[in-house]
Amino acid sequence: MADALTDAIDRIRVVQGDITREAVDAIVNAANSSLLGGGGVDGAIHRVAGPELLAYCRTLGGCPTGQARITPGFHLPARWVIHTVGPVWHGGQRGEDDLLASCYRESLRQAVAHDVRTIAFPQISTGVYHFPLERACAIAAREVAAGLARSPLLAEVRLVCFTADGFAAARQAVRELA
Ligand code: APR
Repeated sequence: MADALTDAIDRIRVVQGDITREAVDAIVNAANSSLLGGGGVDGAIHRVAGPELLAYCRTLGGCPTGQARITPGFHLPARWVIHTVGPVWHGGQRGEDDLLASCYRESLRQAVAHDVRTIAFPQISTGVYHFPLERACAIAAREVAAGLARSPLLAEVRLVCFTADGFAAARQAVRELA
C-alpha cells in the first residue's frame, strides 16, 4: 500500500496562483448552496467564465453543502467547473470536517465520471467560511491522496493557493502525508 500512497502523493502539486488561469481539465469552485455566484474564488470564476456560467447554474437548482455539481467552463481555460459547497466553520462541532472532506471526495467523483485527468482545487471554506487553514489543508491533502490512490486515471491534482500562507500550509500538509 505504501507504493500506492507514494504514487498518489507524487501526483499532487501545490501551487500559488489564480485558479481561473489553470489550464487543467477541471477547476473546482468554492461555491455557496445557491450556485448563483458570490465573492472570492466563486466571483473570480464567474467573471472569467462569463455570463453563460450563471445562466447554466440557474438550471441546477442549487447544491447542498458537501456535494458537487459539474458545469462547462465556458470562457475559462478549463473545460469543466466542478462547483462544491464547503461548510461554514462554527467551531468544529457541527460536522464541518466531514462536510469538507465530502467536498473533495464528491468533486473527485464528478471528475472521474467525466474522464477528467487533471483537476485544480482552491482551498475550500478557508476564506469567507472561516474554516481554520491548517485543519482544512490536512483534510484536503488526505482526501486528495485517497482519491488519487482510488483513481489511477487521475494524472494530477493541483492545490491552488491564492495566498503565501495558504501555499505554505498546503505544502506542509502534503509533506506530512508521506
Ligand atoms: N484562485 C484561487 N484561490 C482563490 C481565488 C482565486 N482566484 N480567490 C480567492 N481564493 C481563495 C481564498 O484566498 C481562500 O483561500 O479561495 C479560498 C476560499 O475562499 P472563498 O473564495 O472565500 O470561499 P469559501 O471560504 O469557501 O466561502 C464560500 O464565499 O465567494 C463566496 O459564493 C461564495 O458564499 C460562498 C463563500
